[in-house]
Amino acid sequence: MAQLWGGRFTKETDQLVYNFNASISFDQKFYRQDICGSIAHVTMLASVGVLTDDEKDQIIDGLNSILKDIENGNIEITSKYEDIHSFVEANLIDRIGDVGKKLHTGRSRNDQVALDMKLYTRDEIVEIKELVKELMMTLHQMMKDNIDAFMPGFTHLQKAQPVTLAHHIGAYMEMFKRDYSRLCDIYERMNYCPLGAGALAGTTYPLDREQTAKLLDFYGPTLNSMDSVSDRDYVIELLSALSTIMMHLSRFCEEIILWNSNEYQFVSIDDGFSTGSSIMPQKKNPDIAELVRGKTGRVYGALTSILTTMKGIPLAYNKDMQEDKELTFDAIDTVKGCISLFHGMIKTMTFHYDRMEASAKHGFTNATDAADYLVNHGVPFRDAHGIVGQLVLLCIEKNIPLDDLSLEEYKKISPVFEEDIYEAISMQTCVEKRNTIGAPGHAAMEKVLEANEAYLQSLN
Ligand code: ARG
Repeated sequence: MAQLWGGRFTKETDQLVYNFNASISFDQKFYRQDICGSIAHVTMLASVGVLTDDEKDQIIDGLNSILKDIENGNIEITSKYEDIHSFVEANLIDRIGDVGKKLHTGRSRNDQVALDMKLYTRDEIVEIKELVKELMMTLHQMMKDNIDAFMPGFTHLQKAQPVTLAHHIGAYMEMFKRDYSRLCDIYERMNYCPLGAGALAGTTYPLDREQTAKLLDFYGPTLNSMDSVSDRDYVIELLSALSTIMMHLSRFCEEIILWNSNEYQFVSIDDGFSTGSSIMPQKKNPDIAELVRGKTGRVYGALTSILTTMKGIPLAYNKDMQEDKELTFDAIDTVKGCISLFHGMIKTMTFHYDRMEASAKHGFTNATDAADYLVNHGVPFRDAHGIVGQLVLLCIEKNIPLDDLSLEEYKKISPVFEEDIYEAISMQTCVEKRNTIGAPGHAAMEKVLEANEAYLQSLN
């Protein structure tokens, strides 16, 4: 046990208490952010005259050498220290002697940890945005390739109306666009620097908070020191955005699992992204899709957990807030892994276009269009609905699609039908007629593709 605060204590901390309280096992993850924050802090302390330039240089050299040694594996971060802040400070003092004891002037671990967590999540937001962007680029390409690939669109998991694969993928594209913009919003709102807030009430040193904010690439300093050390809103917002990303991935996975099933056979997941069974030799299972769907739960759990942790905390810092880290780190790692694996899976997946189109045809997805045909020939919609209902019944009896009924059979139920009914209910026509903004028709899709192209370019 090596602690920063032994002075007013007359007894050693109980080992169980020490273990329960310590955070080094997980907060070591932000050693780099901790060291960068300290470098900015001492740079500023020297510029306002609290440290001499020589002291500043010695401390910065020491901090840089610690960073290098951690990254090269020359030093190990051990549980001898309570947290990463103590580890770095103690190491610094070991290296450069007494001058290292000046590092913590005008700072508390409360504003330090608030800073580290912000720097860490900020870096991760940038990485997650990149992963979402790469995924969107693949989806965009898949849309371009599948603008004429017909498939059934579903409601209630019942075949409803024909769409295209491009249109279906396009729905997810919109979701991920919103996910991306949510991450951007969070970044904008969180990017203010808490360093200099001290324990809760600022400090008596003439700290230049504008300077540290600038050095660390923040838009500026936070404006209330009590809020600065106790704000974890951005963690909640991030976990909420990550939960939404997982929800979208999970829905897509659920569809892929269905599409890959023996019954649908719309897609085949690549062997490289499937797994086998230890007993059933024929099995090829969609484990990656299932795991992404399954891991959604733990990200939701992280969000629920931090919301619950924060709800009863009086101002300002309380130790409860240490609980923000493990679950956030886990959620971030989970989401990054899931996006990457999901991306690899869909990139290598094969679509069975013939099966998709046949499925659309045999599911009466053109029934609405048959009714619209009658309406266009003067039949009121409600009557048209009834007539096509009878036709569907007949088809079910005969086990054929609407396309395979004879004109005679059509005319028996309504004399309004003519030879052009076949053209009117072809998959091609059904989709092509739907060209309002956002619909699956070719012209409408071309416009969306153009907009998405410009959107993706604007992200560079
Ligand atoms: N490990 C602590 C946390 O994660 C760091 C801050 C400790 N501050 C304190 N006053 N005990 O929140």
